[in-house]
Amino acid sequence: MAKHLLKLMDLSRQEITEILDLADKLKYEKKNGIEHHILKGKTLGMIFQKSSTRTRVSFEVGMYDLGGSALFLSSRDLQIGRGEPVEDTARVLSGYLDGIMIRTFEQKEVEALAEYGSIPIINGLTDYCHPCQVLADLQTFREFKGSFEGKKMCYIGDGNNMANSLIVGGIKMGMKVSVACPEGYEPDKEIMEWAKANGEFVCTDNILEAAKDSDVVYTDVWASMGQENEMAERKKIFEGYQINDEVMSVTKPDAMVQHCLPAHREEEITAKVFEAHANEIFAEAENRLHAQKAVLVKLLG
Ligand code: CP
Ligand code: NVA
Repeated sequence: MAKHLLKLMDLSRQEITEILDLADKLKYEKKNGIEHHILKGKTLGMIFQKSSTRTRVSFEVGMYDLGGSALFLSSRDLQIGRGEPVEDTARVLSGYLDGIMIRTFEQKEVEALAEYGSIPIINGLTDYCHPCQVLADLQTFREFKGSFEGKKMCYIGDGNNMANSLIVGGIKMGMKVSVACPEGYEPDKEIMEWAKANGEFVCTDNILEAAKDSDVVYTDVWASMGQENEMAERKKIFEGYQINDEVMSVTKPDAMVQHCLPAHREEEITAKVFEAHANEIFAEAENRLHAQKAVLVKLLG
């Protein structure tokens, strides 16, 4: 197992499977009141440069469940927010903590923490990727559908962090992956090339073609954190890139719908489709806890 979780590309199919298996086990134990204080006495620092509901609460509760503790470190309060280099922050925090989860803008900041620090670093979302979310997404898909091989994953919307991680996760697990996004908003070029070379991958601007016969359809907000001032422009560009009844009429009849949340109803997904699939979407949100606990055990245990 790698020392850090910086991006999904760094994990093999075998390592992802081991994380998912452990996540299922920890979920079972939690549901049945079986204590698992595997990280007794360990402390996780959680650096947030962006807002969060799920990531913050699930990591904090996760550390508590594992017998350890977690510190919420807002960049508003840290010296990092006043310009202290991440390279120095990494070396200082390595002397206090057993691991760091960081949510920030640039992927290279997460990579720098890992390079300069001496403790495991977990990426809790960058503009480039969201590996923790996609581990929970894979756990949820397997829970509902049993297996990955040959199943079709479709993503509709902005080709940014969620799309990038879903493509890598889906292809690594043997799924067919299709992405529908407007021209100019495609996922990362290198990831798309890798996906084409390593599996069945299509990127199109035709959402019905992308959704056809899929087993699961994912979407995400049209304007991500940090893009709030582009909202009006993006609403025009992404109009039509929505999960609605028409999209669901071309998927497999029993297709799942997933959303990393927060969701904007009547933008990337209709309220009707959202509510019809709410049990799957909130199972996905819950699995953040279980999947991340598995990551914590693998990296900090
Ligand atoms: N999906 C997700 O990462 O949610 P938060 O932004 O609330 O952490
Ligand atoms: N793409 C979204 C994901 C939120 C979990 C964002 O970066 O804001």
